[in-house]
Amino acid sequence: MNNIIDGIDYGPLAALVGTWKGDKGMDVAPEPDGTEENPFYETILFEAIGDVTNAESQTLAVLRYHQVVSRKSNDNVFHNETGYWSWDSQTDVIMQSLTIPRGVCVLAGGVAKIEDSIIVLDVQAAVGNKEWGIIQSPFMQENARTNEFYHNVTIDGDTMSYFETMVLDIYGKTFEHTDGNTLSRSN
Ligand code: HEM
Repeated sequence: MNNIIDGIDYGPLAALVGTWKGDKGMDVAPEPDGTEENPFYETILFEAIGDVTNAESQTLAVLRYHQVVSRKSNDNVFHNETGYWSWDSQTDVIMQSLTIPRGVCVLAGGVAKIEDSIIVLDVQAAVGNKEWGIIQSPFMQENARTNEFYHNVTIDGDTMSYFETMVLDIYGKTFEHTDGNTLSRSN
């Protein structure tokens, strides 16, 4: 596979570049009296934006992404997320930094595995983890804290599936908020 775009090697992240659409999503979200399940469809756009150098010694190849998720039941957008995926060719470390408009930011780190041209990206973060952390507003820390974040993405040609788990502390209990979908590249 050719991972070079405009002269920059994006390694395993090159497989993500493009616009992806999928309508088989399922969200499991917390409610005061239990659980809400929301079938959804979404579009995720990944763009190669070049590389950055840190401390004149680390070079990261970077994709910017934007994910827009709509509830099937009423077509309302109910999740809007933006961020970056980065790859360090020297260490093979990958990072996902994301922001959601609830007052929550995540910097998750991990590795990419490539087997038989299938690419698996695995990143995670947790409150209290010194390397890969979660930052959230005072309100969210008090009332709807995200304590852990796990994200697994599998890319097989023009098909991508992902599953993510956010371990929340909300309504006086621990809740596993999960999302997953299978998408196809549309360009
Ligand atoms: C496809 C991705 C996602 C979808 C569709 C989604 C959807 C939802 C929904 C429907 C709720 C319940 C909102 C309500 O009851 O008013 C919720 C709550 C929440 N989500 Fe997500 N979510 C996604 C990803 C994420 C991610 C990546 C994070 C954090 C890293 C996150 C953090 C939270 C938190 C902290 C809450 C609790 C707020 C509340 O219920 O009042 N979610 N999400």
